[in-house]
Amino acid sequence: MSNKSKTEEAGIAPLQSVAIIMDGNGRWAKKRLLPRNAGHAEGVKNIERVLGVFRELGVHHVTLYAFSTENWKRPKEEVDGLMSLAYKYLTERLIPKLSDPDYALSIKFIGDKSRLSPELRDKCIEAERLSEGRPFVCNVAFNYGGRDEIVHAVNSAIADGHTHFDEELISRYLYTAHSPDPDLIIRTGGEWRLSNFLLWQSAYSEVYVTDTLWPDFDREDIMEAMRAFGSRKRRFGGLNPEDRKEG
Ligand code: IPE
Ligand code: IPE
Ligand code: MG
Repeated sequence: MSNKSKTEEAGIAPLQSVAIIMDGNGRWAKKRLLPRNAGHAEGVKNIERVLGVFRELGVHHVTLYAFSTENWKRPKEEVDGLMSLAYKYLTERLIPKLSDPDYALSIKFIGDKSRLSPELRDKCIEAERLSEGRPFVCNVAFNYGGRDEIVHAVNSAIADGHTHFDEELISRYLYTAHSPDPDLIIRTGGEWRLSNFLLWQSAYSEVYVTDTLWPDFDREDIMEAMRAFGSRKRRFGGLNPEDRKEG
């Protein structure tokens, strides 16, 4: 048997950790003259498909941006729709699946759970507990903001008695402490911005933007993103051997 990972076998650079800004649900719905929440429902359906492909490719950590700390600014009807969609998905689909001890997925909700309804918060915690320690990690960023996360990390470190901070300490107090920083951040829906996503962790992530709207984002789009990642020269501020030669 080959020792190569699936990504290497496919001729794609190996990567451990991918993060996705799942944008474009509203536009997907608008194009079809449907309400925005129909786009969100379609977007939720795409999550398992996409996770399945990344798992096949040997990626161990996938972080999904599902609801930002700024998304509360949207009309109440849309926010309520998103909250009930999350609750329905957890109770009807995810928790029953996670109840199978052989199901490889470990789910973590990253973000501030305190603003969620007690019912939704309990379901998030139940899903996390049920799936703890499994090999394929999916972080769902829900009521997540990168700035909020850093402020939360610093306050938690102070509450634990720390008075001196370094990068390693702050990383340890982030919601994502259990996952490596993303090698690749993919944004669907064509906008070239981070929208407050993983501000600390994205320091040396490669960024890939596709015009494909989230509900349409499929295996071929993933392969294209992986190929683009493979063609990048990552230097982390240093020089690659071929750049060292003078003249
Ligand atoms: C992303 O899709 C999902 C959330 C922010 C919850 P949008 O709802 O932002 O879709 P567009 O950008 O309006 O198309
Ligand atoms: C980013 O999308 C947040 C999520 C995908 C959850 P937005 O649609 O909220 O981002 P902006 O407002 O266009 O920056
Ligand atoms: Mg958007």
